[in-house]
Amino acid sequence: MRGNRKRIGILTGGGDCPGLNAAIRAIAKTAILGYGMDVVGIKDGFLGLIEKRFTDISYQDVSGILTLGGTILGASNKANPFRHPDIKGRFNDVSDMAVQNYRAMGLNGLVCIGGDGTLSIAYKLHKKGVKLIGVPKTIDKDLKQTDTTIGFDSALITATQAIDKLHTTAQSHHRVMVIEVMGRYAGWLALYSGLAGGGDIILLPEAPYDIKKVCGAVLKRNKSGKRFSIVVVSEGARPKSGKMVVRKIVNDSTDPVRLGGIGEKVAGDIENATGLEARVTVLGHLQRGGEPSPFDRILATRFGVAACEMAAKKDFGKAVVLKAGEIKGIDLGKAVVDISRVELNHPVIKTAMAVGTSFGI
Ligand code: F6P
Repeated sequence: MRGNRKRIGILTGGGDCPGLNAAIRAIAKTAILGYGMDVVGIKDGFLGLIEKRFTDISYQDVSGILTLGGTILGASNKANPFRHPDIKGRFNDVSDMAVQNYRAMGLNGLVCIGGDGTLSIAYKLHKKGVKLIGVPKTIDKDLKQTDTTIGFDSALITATQAIDKLHTTAQSHHRVMVIEVMGRYAGWLALYSGLAGGGDIILLPEAPYDIKKVCGAVLKRNKSGKRFSIVVVSEGARPKSGKMVVRKIVNDSTDPVRLGGIGEKVAGDIENATGLEARVTVLGHLQRGGEPSPFDRILATRFGVAACEMAAKKDFGKAVVLKAGEIKGIDLGKAVVDISRVELNHPVIKTAMAVGTSFGI
């Protein structure tokens, strides 16, 4: 029985991360408890909107999911209504159909939880008439208009714990331990986990490294009696005169480039140049798994409640963001124009340098 009740849809797009369920729960609980709305979950990101796959979400459905990793709705970092492959692999614009499906679902608004790819698509759909609100999530923390994104803090904890564990084995075997972390074209995860884990060398996409300086830092430690080193490498890092290492191209994805492999290169180059034994750990999707940290649970809940309140006020075409501790709504178009990358004069870089961390530059 719908009567005059408003209906709000929720969609999780792009790569998953811890905290998505906390956001879904917050949107749904606020909608049900605060506004008497019906809630609809769209399955597998924009694919559900294209294929009209959705499910009603009850209070019970979102009860007990605060601490659960992943997304109960499923996600896709390929689905894009503006570039949808047919059975022959040709890409077509099926956005009109997606908009029709949104209307056929009887939705009065849609909250899209996603990173830059998802929010860019959301903005285009908004311009075609979908009443949309964006919620920023990504372990990469690379959205410029928000101080942080759902998932970053949890991934940071995972990466830091991994570095802590590598420390003990590095010490026992007097080895150079290279750990490759995610982050795409932004070095936030490498910088923060490297600093939190006491990494000796941190290599960032924003600061192409000089391998001689990297090896110099390792050898200097050895000479001073520290017979091990921890090198934290962002997957997007590259040598001064080289390119990012691309693991594969996923043609039907919003960003087809999949990075990976730079850790192996760095370890090989260090071993060859210094004669010291080096080992590589690629942390990979472990960074996207598991339960959200307390910070992410709170952030996702704050974002989710704010997004639902904005929808209730019909304040569409906005993204919720965190600015200096406050949750705000900004233009969805503005939220997606720019990627946030680490600037080399960032205070955290200066802090790391002050305690002797090398960036290989
Ligand atoms: O954007 C999130 C992210 O995990 C990046 O850090 C990483 O480069 C990419 O997604 C991996 O994508 P996939 O899940 O397709 O391997």
